[in-house]
Amino acid sequence: MLKKFATAAALALVLGPAAGHAAGAGGHMEDIAFSFEGPFGKYDQNQLQRGLQIYTEVCSACHGMKFVPIRSLGDAGGPALPEDQVRAYAEQNFEVFDPELDDFRPAKPTDNFPANTSAGAPDLSLMAKARAGFHGPLGTGLSQLVNGIGGPEYIVSILNGYTGETKEEAGTLFYENHAFSTGWIAMAPPLSGEDVEFADGHSNSLHHEAQDVAAFLMWAAEPKMMARKQAGLVGVIFLVILATLLYLTNKRIWAPIKGKKYQA
Ligand code: HEC
Repeated sequence: MLKKFATAAALALVLGPAAGHAAGAGGHMEDIAFSFEGPFGKYDQNQLQRGLQIYTEVCSACHGMKFVPIRSLGDAGGPALPEDQVRAYAEQNFEVFDPELDDFRPAKPTDNFPANTSAGAPDLSLMAKARAGFHGPLGTGLSQLVNGIGGPEYIVSILNGYTGETKEEAGTLFYENHAFSTGWIAMAPPLSGEDVEFADGHSNSLHHEAQDVAAFLMWAAEPKMMARKQAGLVGVIFLVILATLLYLTNKRIWAPIKGKKYQA
């Protein structure tokens, strides 16, 4: 009986939230199998580069990413752009205010992505983590291990969630969106498919674009995910070896005593 209950509880813990609702969001979430999910998951370098292009050409018009250093675009495990491309990217796309010059200058790799508050849009540096869900009951994070953290799914769902309905309230236009908590978001649909052209000819359908930019934003919020997973794996292997050695040592120490059975 107890065993059955424990099994059911464990199952509920792992599978329960798989229905897929990001925390705080009342809307419909799509569950997407991103390449970086699971204990062995990795970022897809090409996908991150496509996502960077979408962020740059579309989202950065309204959203800043002020906590992300531009130089990290060159990091292995991230978009991994060559150094000269990172420099060219910074110069061509962004201007930053330099207090020493008292003027704007082209951005350098050592700058962060600029902030952008012009449209009243939230900063996207940490959005993929801020909207994480799937934590599962008791906050164990077990479901997170299996299903991913939910933030990128939420972003995909927002980008795909527009119904086409609009309403005006107090001079602001709101767009109906299934995934947004209140059902009405102040962001006009930023993507409709074919918004960018990828150099490698990769599909630029709305669904693919949404996933690419969501993956990129996950990397922006959690750039060291792969290193962390690797350290975790090494830790687990170490513990397994240690546990085996301790078990064998323990057996050996007690062998003289345990061996003598029924000695009166
Ligand atoms: C024209 C300006 C504009 C563009 C372009 C734009 N956004 Fe937004 N975005 C906004 C505004 C304004 C909000 C705040 C909406 C609200 O709170 O109702 C917002 C909110 C968001 C949110 C937060 C939703 C939440 O849970 O609070 C996400 C995620 C988001 N945008 C992603 C994107 C992505 C990804 C792109 C590029 C593909 C993008 N946005 C392009 C203006 C924009």
